[in-house]
Amino acid sequence: MSIFRDRVAIVTGAGSGIGKAVAEALCQKGAKVVLADYKEETVKAVAAAINMKTGGKTGSAQAVRLDVTDYDAVKKTVDDTVNTLGRLDYMFNNAGIAVGGEVRDTNIDDWRAVLNVNLFGVIHGVDAAYPVMVRQGFGHIVNTASIEGLVAFPGTAAYVASKHAVVGLSNTLRIEGRELGVKVSAVCPGHIKTAIFNDSKMVNIDRKKVLEMVAKIPGITPEECAREILKGVEKNTGVIVITALAKILYMLQRLSPDLAMKLMSLDMKRMRNARIKK
Ligand SMILES: NC(=O)c1ccc[n+]([C@@H]2O[C@H](COP(=O)([O-])OP(=O)(O)OC[C@H]3O[C@@H](n4cnc5c(N)ncnc54)[C@H](O)[C@@H]3O)[C@@H](O)[C@H]2O)c1
Repeated sequence: MSIFRDRVAIVTGAGSGIGKAVAEALCQKGAKVVLADYKEETVKAVAAAINMKTGGKTGSAQAVRLDVTDYDAVKKTVDDTVNTLGRLDYMFNNAGIAVGGEVRDTNIDDWRAVLNVNLFGVIHGVDAAYPVMVRQGFGHIVNTASIEGLVAFPGTAAYVASKHAVVGLSNTLRIEGRELGVKVSAVCPGHIKTAIFNDSKMVNIDRKKVLEMVAKIPGITPEECAREILKGVEKNTGVIVITALAKILYMLQRLSPDLAMKLMSLDMKRMRNARIKK
């Protein structure tokens, strides 16, 4: 029997991509899942489709409109979940955005936008869910970072900063939570074929060229990614690195940070080719 059966989970950013696939996989395994996303109609449609598929026989899905940058709203979602479903076993802090562009081209609003969602969105989820889990004496917080939380990538500094911070806070919380019964994991995927690249703001770079570059990176589907995430969660892996290329990059970063930096400089050349005003 699945460890997720009859467990209660919240997944943020569940309207699309990785979050949607994780929510679907959890429901298939018998969990009760609250799907949270700031795109209300989209997330409602996703939850309805899941319930139609499972017919309530395995897990169940319910949708809430939630902007993870709003701390009070995140806290309310967590509290409402515990009040109605009786417990909180998993908090997937997954919602995220990206802004592409060199630091000389982006501005302070771009930094704030990325850090507000990717870092403060995760902090809000942690701050709301962790005390509940400590009280319960069990629970697992799963924060979506990225391979960009482990290795520096050019042309996306705010995103890299946010994801490094998410890895750092997850590792710290993993140590603090261990004796309190709370598990913590950071998910670090490489290229997953989702809408994030189409939806991202791009500053002074040619979107078409960037999308062509991205298409050349070997990637996997969100469903394959969700399977790897849940496998990592089951094993209570601290840093769940996903895709073969991301695993190689992470190994290279640990073996020789200089070499990893040189490799990423090649990426910088490709980014510069996509720059509009040279
Ligand atoms: N796709 C990749 O290659 C990749 C790789 C590494 C990490 N990630 C991370 O995975 C996570 C999911 O990304 P994805 O690729 O599935 O992208 P996606 O764009 O398909 O999904 C992101 C979801 O988050 C939601 N969202 C955005 N801002 C929000 C907010 N303020 N409040 C609530 N919901 C919000 C969006 O509406 C969307 O449904 C992100 O944290 C992303 O950084 C993605």
